[in-house]
Amino acid sequence: MTGLTRTLRRAFAGTMLALALAIAAPGATTPAHAQAPAPSAPAQASEQMLFNYLQGDVRGRITIPDQRAATLIQPEGREFQHFWRTTLKWIGAIAVGGMLVVLVLFYAMRGKIRIDGGPSGRTIERFNGFERFVHWLTATTFIVLGITGLNISFGRELLLPLMGPEAFTTWSQWGKLAHNFLAFPFTLGILLMLVIWIRDNIPGATDVRWFAEGGGLIGHGHPPARRFNAGQKIIFWSVVLGGGAIAVTGFILMFPFQFVTTMSGMQLATQLHGVIALVMIAIILAHIYIGSLGMEGAFDAMGSGQVDLNWAKEHHSLWVEEVMAGSRDARAPTGARGAGAD
Ligand code: HEM
Repeated sequence: MTGLTRTLRRAFAGTMLALALAIAAPGATTPAHAQAPAPSAPAQASEQMLFNYLQGDVRGRITIPDQRAATLIQPEGREFQHFWRTTLKWIGAIAVGGMLVVLVLFYAMRGKIRIDGGPSGRTIERFNGFERFVHWLTATTFIVLGITGLNISFGRELLLPLMGPEAFTTWSQWGKLAHNFLAFPFTLGILLMLVIWIRDNIPGATDVRWFAEGGGLIGHGHPPARRFNAGQKIIFWSVVLGGGAIAVTGFILMFPFQFVTTMSGMQLATQLHGVIALVMIAIILAHIYIGSLGMEGAFDAMGSGQVDLNWAKEHHSLWVEEVMAGSRDARAPTGARGAGAD
């Protein structure tokens, strides 16, 4: 660096310090360190000294209507930045990475959960067309929102070096558009899920037994369950409450300062949105595993809507009994008997 550049930089830093003090002094929120002696030679103060000196919210006076512009320094902003750059990444790595490790270990130890009695060849309707539509509406939008959201948080570190700036910019622009617009059908999916499945997800005594017996995941038993077992009820309520919280905080971010009017409120919404989304992604990874690779016969429930009768008797014995007794709105397979695998 030449001597001239150095001199210019010093002069600039000094001018900025003097300017900041001039704005902050009269009518400004009193800085926490207001009694601290002023630097004797402001022109030589470094940026760090400036920050150390100006603790607390530093506000000036402005004449434009948007009073938010009067805030010169908001110290929570630095904590927020630290959270965004460091803490959130750790939460993501532990929640998502940890869940992937758990699933790989679980698969290695337990393998695919088979239908103990083997497929019976007869099927029973598990989900009707509308239920499957609602599921896949929520599922596909969640997956795209999850991938594009991860890109917003971690793409710059993980993908930019691999893709290069041009491809990463194009992908991120499309990703952001998708992230904004798919929020609406995702929210609709959550609301519809709540309406169609809430009555089957009220916790009850059978859920206690299901947990006590490890849900049949630990060991090889089949604790009785109604239409949804206790594990599925956890998934349902996570989706409804967690997905609902993601939607609410997401709309707060999409329409800044409309529903929440303070900067700290916006920062909190951003933090909650990121953390809840990461925890949800981890939970849904476990759900996707058990609904596809992890359990024989499970995917059909959301594929064709028809599941093998033996699968249903093993995993949802009380529900099969209800269907057979005609107390449920589902078609019973002809010639099929109640619980107990064929
Ligand atoms: C490729 C992705 C997915 C697959 C393969 C999948 C598979 C399944 C299957 C097979 C069922 C029925 C289970 C049964 O018959 O008992 C189901 C139910 C359900 N799914 Fe998914 N799903 C996926 C993604 C999602 C996503 C992203 C969400 C929410 C954000 C979701 C939410 C639900 C809920 C709330 C239920 C009912 C409760 C339960 O069975 O756990 N699914 N899914």
